[in-house]
Amino acid sequence: MPQWRQGLTKSLHQTRNMPESRYFQLATVDSDGVPHCRTVVFRGITDDNQLIVISDTRSEKFAQLGQKPNAQACWYFSKTREQYRFSCIATLITAVQDADLVSHQWNKLSDAGKKQFLWGEPGTPRQDSSALQVEGDFDQVPSHFCTILFKIEGVDYLNLRGNPQNREWHQKDENGNWVCQSLIP
Ligand SMILES: Cc1cc2nc3c(=O)[nH]c(=O)nc-3n(C[C@H](O)[C@H](O)[C@H](O)COP(=O)(O)O)c2cc1C
Repeated sequence: MPQWRQGLTKSLHQTRNMPESRYFQLATVDSDGVPHCRTVVFRGITDDNQLIVISDTRSEKFAQLGQKPNAQACWYFSKTREQYRFSCIATLITAVQDADLVSHQWNKLSDAGKKQFLWGEPGTPRQDSSALQVEGDFDQVPSHFCTILFKIEGVDYLNLRGNPQNREWHQKDENGNWVCQSLIP
């Protein structure tokens, strides 16, 4: 396991009682090069170091990543005062590509979580102030529900604890082995 991943596992363990430590900021760029950033929930990490996120194919991030798969995840653990910035390449996965993965993620959601995918098209005008109607069946994976995998290619790690602070850059060398370079913070 790469050194940065051992660190991430430890950070997640140390903050296991803090739900907000399961959120990170995800940055993408659109076709004009304009950046977009939003919060998403960390749903896990695969054996080959891909962050798992669930989302909606009708969202802007899905379209942006379809055009340009480069993304950055920025994750701050306030309790341990650590920041991880993951340089990633995204793979968009709907039930067409991997029905098992997508239905597994859907089935893990609570009814309240599923509901958020059944309110209609995200980002479109809301017609009136009445409660939104849920359209669809909790037992059936909506076709717009998707999983996005973010393959981690580089890690900029900063730990604010200590004087001086500790910053490291992790990337793979030409043999595919993770190497770490300590940096001036
Ligand atoms: C705490 C929190 C967690 C969120 N988690 C997700 C998530 O896991 N997936 C997702 O698509 N959107 C999530 N959102 C909503 C996004 O931040 C964003 O508003 C939405 O996805 C639309 O973004 P887009 O138009 O840039 O695609 C979350 C928002 C908050 C505040």
